[in-house]
Amino acid sequence: MTYSIDEELIERIHDSVNLIDLASNYVQLKRTGSNYVGLCPFHNEKTPSFTISESKQLFHCFGCGEGGDAISFIMKIENLSFVEAVKFIADREGIPIEEKSSYNQKLKEEKNLIYQINRDAARFYYLNLTRNKEALNYLKKRNLSKNTIKRFGLGYAPARWDGIKNYLTKKGYKEEDLEKAGLIGKKRDNTGYYDKFRNRIMFPIIDTRGRVIGFGGRVLDDSMPKYLNSRDTLVFVKGDNLYGLNYIKRTSSLKRLILVEGYMDVISLYNYGIDYAVASLGTAFTPNQAKLLKRYNKELYICYDSDKAGIKATMKALNILDKEGIKPRVILLPKDQDPDDYIGKNGLEAFESLIDNALSPLDYKLLILRMKYDIEDYEDKIKFIKEVSNILRGLKSPVEREIYIDKIAREIQISKEALEKEVVGRNDKNDSTFYKDKYRNGRNRHNKNKITPIKMVLKPAHLTAEKILIRLMIENRQYYNRIKEDLGREDFLNYEINILAHIIFDEYEKNPNKMNIDLNYIYDKLKDEKDLDYDLINEIMELNVELLSEDKRKLIEDLIHRVRMWKLKMDREKILKELKEIESKKQKDEGDVNRFKSLCLELTKLDKKLKSHM
Ligand code: CTP
Ligand code: MN
Repeated sequence: MTYSIDEELIERIHDSVNLIDLASNYVQLKRTGSNYVGLCPFHNEKTPSFTISESKQLFHCFGCGEGGDAISFIMKIENLSFVEAVKFIADREGIPIEEKSSYNQKLKEEKNLIYQINRDAARFYYLNLTRNKEALNYLKKRNLSKNTIKRFGLGYAPARWDGIKNYLTKKGYKEEDLEKAGLIGKKRDNTGYYDKFRNRIMFPIIDTRGRVIGFGGRVLDDSMPKYLNSRDTLVFVKGDNLYGLNYIKRTSSLKRLILVEGYMDVISLYNYGIDYAVASLGTAFTPNQAKLLKRYNKELYICYDSDKAGIKATMKALNILDKEGIKPRVILLPKDQDPDDYIGKNGLEAFESLIDNALSPLDYKLLILRMKYDIEDYEDKIKFIKEVSNILRGLKSPVEREIYIDKIAREIQISKEALEKEVVGRNDKNDSTFYKDKYRNGRNRHNKNKITPIKMVLKPAHLTAEKILIRLMIENRQYYNRIKEDLGREDFLNYEINILAHIIFDEYEKNPNKMNIDLNYIYDKLKDEKDLDYDLINEIMELNVELLSEDKRKLIEDLIHRVRMWKLKMDREKILKELKEIESKKQKDEGDVNRFKSLCLELTKLDKKLKSHM
């Protein structure tokens, strides 16, 4: 949606909104002198450093540095854009935002009418429930207490075609408007309207501002469809709301939220003492719902039904949440149960211990894969490994990847190396970095022992990294395979080490079955070279690989990273040097100016790369 925001509106907001009142909805404030203080809502703290100046209408947190005015406060706390925040405050303060447009004004009135109709409908359904034994019995059978029924405003739609229609038209509403609210529908033969919800338990759906926006209705037996929901209306868009979210207090001390599938899950959890569940209504969780949840800034748990559809929906929700930057945990239920079944059978404590044992998204995905395949079956096992590898390849942290490779390799009894190869081996082509590209070109250029004939002085840490990498490659082809993924011959900058790199790369490429390289072979090859620092070469050859860090994979990742960083830094220095040279020239010709420009561009690119490597 787009709203036009003008200066005047912003001014009006600043005039009529008191930041103290606004912030009090989220933070408990105490007066101290001319200021108000409280616990900062933007970071975790035990002593209050969040301060508001009433006279200036500005807030500032001395703990985390956040600060600003009423609009920026709402932007931050509600996770809204500037325009959305202005609209949010205007709505809350009753400042008419669209008064200039008569179309918008009309729309607003229509929406308000639907809210009103829905509220009256909820009342009607509730009254009907209290009078209907069968419906009450049904809820009793499902163990719901009176308090729970009241809290959720449950109701009953009578088993007739004109129940809500008669009640609401008698109250003065027009049939067309009841139809716009989705409560009644036009008869096929165009002779009038009929009740959409008949003989159903009614669940009002309420938005976060307390307005009834729609209904769900459940049959009392096994007939179909089990649930019927309001169709989309001006005020109800499926997928934009979460059932039960209206009961969640953003500021409550409870830091948890559980996402479940259905109405009855939310209600039943509450009935047994868990008052922080919301439902995505059906199995389709949407990005809009994720955005909505994000505003609540709580630890999120997913507890969908543990059947096929529920698992699929969980996977989908995990992906959507991941895109929003939310890292939930997944609560596992016994096969084919939902939260309502489970807490009904096992009680609150048992459910709470399920919460405590909830899995990370990664662990959950791996578990589901494990269940999907029969590891004793070879074909299945291979499929499993391929799928697992796809997941592990996406992990950003090499340490995490290593840990999981290790764990899974042991679990399914394959060699760690094989799994490693599967994971690392087929890197995404788009992932090919600057270095790999360079290496590819380099390999073509350096088919024979063509060697960079410059002697560069490297920083000690850089030199050490090159030394160890080269020694590891000599030692074991697997290390070589990993290193050449990211580094080519020409990436080894020390003169001697560069020569060694050529020898090693050539030897492994020529002999695909060679698992390591004989030190004597290397010394033999070196005879052809002149001007070598044999102290350095001997030091490398004598390095004891066994004494290096036990976790070779991690070591290699770190060393590769270091070499790349140093190389970027050296490139940067070279550019800076040339820039200075051009700058110091008294007379600059057009070539100089162009060179200067392109060097600046290169520098910016390099800095970006360096930043992303830090
Ligand atoms: N749902 C729906 N329409 C259906 C079936 C399901 O809208 N025909 C939605 C409802 O929001 C429902 C949720 O999907 O609450 C989960 O469906 P399901 O697991 O079948 O229902 P439960 O919540 O378990 O309901 P109950 O325990 O009453 O069977
Ligand atoms: Mn159920």
